[in-house]
Amino acid sequence: MTLTPEVVDKAVFERAVEHLRKAQVALPTFRELAEPSLIPDSIATSLDPIDPDEPRAANLFRVHWYNGARGNTRGRAAVPSHIELPASLTGVNARIVVALGRYFPMIGAHKVLAAYGCLTPRIVTGRFDPVAHRAVWPSTGNYCRGGVAISRILGCHGVAVLPAGMSRERFDWLQRWAASPDDIVRTPGSESNVKEIYDKCAELARDPANAILNQFSEFGNYIAHYHCTGRALQSVFEHIRGGDRELRLAAFVSATGSAGTIAAGDYLKSVYGTKIVAVEAAECPTMLCNGYGEHNIQGIGDKHIPLIHNVMNTDLVAGVSDRSTDALDVLFNTDVGQKYLATRQKIDPAVLAALDGLGLSGIANVLGAIKTAKRLELTEADVIVTVATDSAELYASERAEHQARHFPEGFDEIHAAEVFARHMQAVTDDRLIELSHIERRRIFNLGYYTWVEQQGVPLEDFDRRQDQAFWRGLQESVTAWDRLIEDFNQRTGVNRPA
Ligand SMILES: Cc1ncc(COP(=O)(O)O)c(C=O)c1O
Repeated sequence: MTLTPEVVDKAVFERAVEHLRKAQVALPTFRELAEPSLIPDSIATSLDPIDPDEPRAANLFRVHWYNGARGNTRGRAAVPSHIELPASLTGVNARIVVALGRYFPMIGAHKVLAAYGCLTPRIVTGRFDPVAHRAVWPSTGNYCRGGVAISRILGCHGVAVLPAGMSRERFDWLQRWAASPDDIVRTPGSESNVKEIYDKCAELARDPANAILNQFSEFGNYIAHYHCTGRALQSVFEHIRGGDRELRLAAFVSATGSAGTIAAGDYLKSVYGTKIVAVEAAECPTMLCNGYGEHNIQGIGDKHIPLIHNVMNTDLVAGVSDRSTDALDVLFNTDVGQKYLATRQKIDPAVLAALDGLGLSGIANVLGAIKTAKRLELTEADVIVTVATDSAELYASERAEHQARHFPEGFDEIHAAEVFARHMQAVTDDRLIELSHIERRRIFNLGYYTWVEQQGVPLEDFDRRQDQAFWRGLQESVTAWDRLIEDFNQRTGVNRPA
């Protein structure tokens, strides 16, 4: 189930070394991506003239949270890009801070980190042959884009698997980046059809040339987020805190798609005792009440509990409606909505300008944070950190459809006021549970049907994940993985990527 950090096939390993030497690719360590100040100056300065959205090997060294806005590519940001939302918007005194995934290279979403975290351990242990294998990236649309980008940089064959109903912008991107249209595999349905993605992968896995990098069960995804996202969010919190020791990092809020990002919560909890809040769509309340349904909060899946979700360390579950995320997406990203927020709600222009950094799941995370603040009665001495995986840019077509359906005569100021009142001001702590031991067990047990019954994971491997010692082992394995990455780079001899 988990990969051991050791070379398992010497011949494949040698072929990978040769291949990446030819492609002039050096691989960053997890430590470097967690703390980019450790990236050697020779590499950091070589990035300056390189466009972050080009498939260049050097851009692997940008797969971290410390990138600045596009057009300002020079140098690394001292603190990950983030916005703090004012109480005039959120209606709560707790300070809600959102780290922005939009500045990750190539795909404008932090899922490229998960893709790197899943593939690299295989490459450096001789488990993936970049010449003979195809890297198959099952996803709801961002992880597969990250995977296709990483595959292209490494000069290997990448295949995206995603539901046909995902946003048009995702497919437009894939058409530009995939080597051939056949490398974009559409599965039936949309966000709520993860099982159909697994079925397609099972079919593809019959061909031994297809290496399935299943983000929902690849522990590299957990390790990357625990260290890289966890440390980045710590740096955001310390920046906000300045010297104020009274300020607490009360909660980390994250929607779970593959449950990679929420691993950052395990890190933050270990440092600050932070509560971990999992967000899901209220229309498909899997964790809340074993429910089913459909929704449009793209990227957060449902109807299954990912194998890499450390459920027994999760503290709350918040259900957020996609009616709210769709409506707020219109409010935040139309001139009418922005004008209403500026003039009637007196929202700071800098905050307004940054609201387009919230994709649909980012908005869901903000609503989950507001619910958490209300339930836990948090005050101005409390910070809640969350993430926006991608940005509004990926949902322009969805927004146009939503507007046409719900506001056929145009979205005016009255509509803006209604949306704000109903979907921001009226947010309550409904559909939110604080998990008792038995509720954690219920959610944990729900995973049995996907992983043991459907996917054939041995029961003892499934059960091991109840124990926090299992997760500590994974967290600590990063040292061994980094050593393997360094050894691999030494073998290729590439110390300044192209
Ligand atoms: C837009 C978006 N939001 C949230 C998530 C969930 O993140 P994770 O898979 O790390 O749980 C994803 C995952 O693909 C996503 O694409």
